[in-house]
Amino acid sequence: MSRGAGVASNPLRDPRDRRLPRVAGPCGLVLFGVTGDLSRKKLMPAIYDLANRGLLPPGFALVGFARRDWADEDFAQVVHDAVKEYARTPFREEVWDQLADGFRFVPGEFDDDEAFDRLAHTIADLDRVRGTGGNHAFYLSIPPKLFPVVVAQLKRSGLSARNGDEWRRVVVEKPFGHDLTSARELNRTLSVVFPPESVFRIDHYLGKETVQNILALRFANTLFEPIWNRSYVDHVQITMAEDIGIGGRAGYYDGIGAARDVIQNHLLQLLALTAMEEPVSFEAQSLRLEKTKVLSAVRIPDDLGSHTARGQYAAGWQGGEKVRGFLEEEAIPKTSKTETYAAIKLEVDTRRWAGVPFYLRAGKRLGRRVTEVALVFQRAPHLPFAATATEELGQNALVIRIQPDEGVTMRFGSKVPGTAMEVRDVNMDFAYGESFTESSPEAYERLLLDVLLGDPPLFPRHEEVELSWEILDPIEEYWAEHGQPDQYPSGGWGPDSATEMLARDGRVWRRP
Ligand code: BG6
Repeated sequence: MSRGAGVASNPLRDPRDRRLPRVAGPCGLVLFGVTGDLSRKKLMPAIYDLANRGLLPPGFALVGFARRDWADEDFAQVVHDAVKEYARTPFREEVWDQLADGFRFVPGEFDDDEAFDRLAHTIADLDRVRGTGGNHAFYLSIPPKLFPVVVAQLKRSGLSARNGDEWRRVVVEKPFGHDLTSARELNRTLSVVFPPESVFRIDHYLGKETVQNILALRFANTLFEPIWNRSYVDHVQITMAEDIGIGGRAGYYDGIGAARDVIQNHLLQLLALTAMEEPVSFEAQSLRLEKTKVLSAVRIPDDLGSHTARGQYAAGWQGGEKVRGFLEEEAIPKTSKTETYAAIKLEVDTRRWAGVPFYLRAGKRLGRRVTEVALVFQRAPHLPFAATATEELGQNALVIRIQPDEGVTMRFGSKVPGTAMEVRDVNMDFAYGESFTESSPEAYERLLLDVLLGDPPLFPRHEEVELSWEILDPIEEYWAEHGQPDQYPSGGWGPDSATEMLARDGRVWRRP
């Protein structure tokens, strides 16, 4: 198929749009873990949305593999229901019919050789009838303990092997291990079977438009970069607040906690993009090089008791509803020490950032859902006003609003209208919804398409993963030795210990 064919007839595309669409060539995707939440809520809808936007090849194939007694039609029904409920773009019968023609289901256990032989047979058949050309991605949306089994099966059954120009890729969902040792072990397991360029580690935050916009904001403008350093920035706050609890994920979450769940990956990636130097290009190698340099320069404070905080949500009220505490959640032991809130102070030992603290916090059952990166600037060195004129003046801030209210806010002081000189903080806002007519694709649409195109810049390399664990491991060890996390009320902003942690530095958390 020529690039753009299959797109010309797509009514969702604006005919004036002259950008070259990135359309995947002939290929298929095998999904392990089709019965999980991620598949239903994110992956299946993303596949449909890509097809609907004309970005998948006409013969695209989706193969589900699971321990279920399903026929192809049962699998198609599961995908159909997921698409109807969660897809971003409107449902169109003709798109669905063409896509669903390429659905296959292979029932089996992960340790069943015969099931993998059947999978190999199915894929060979798809190459013949759908023209997938021997190009297949294997998406492991399964518990990490099963990775080695599936990867070994892919090798044994010949599925990881490719001929000539064909490609075989493996997509790995987090968690990439639970500490440095296990992450290294996982990387070894993968590298025995797949070369590094065929391994795609998903950190879905990197697929978010607003996260990619950190690089656009910094490196496409002259306005920000001159002040993006220790001479002007007082400190940086990176917040990932969620209003939801752990839902039905007790099995995954207990023993993992907020820091392993989202700081090790999403928040440290946000830190890396915020703190890194300009890459020589946006090629994967250059980007990863700069991120790796920053992560290697991250230093954790000596006194972890004063510079970290963790908590567990207690029962409370949220959104007008009574919600239970973490220790009362189903399948969570009453003695669980798992934190649902974590705050950490880090420093970046580079010329640009020496002495500038980066405060990271993430928590569940907080006041509202918001993810943001805030650069808080130093106070003006001198204020030529009467002291009373600036009583309400705070610090300038540049806030990159990752979600849900996507945009950028600049906060600065302005004269209050009237006869006296009085200066107060005001906000200047850029909102995606107001400036662009296109709505942002879901992170998984972007990342799945990148996998099928073999485009790696938005996927962390194993060095980044290992460096992130090096940062987190001593903190986790410290916490493991220091009793129970503090309780905080659901619907609030975390434990008092987190407030005190910043107060010791003479600072306060932002109230988004
Ligand atoms: C996942 C975490 O990586 O990110 C979840 O495992 C969390 O615990 C989720 O809820 C949040 O993603 P998003 O895109 O809604 O911010």
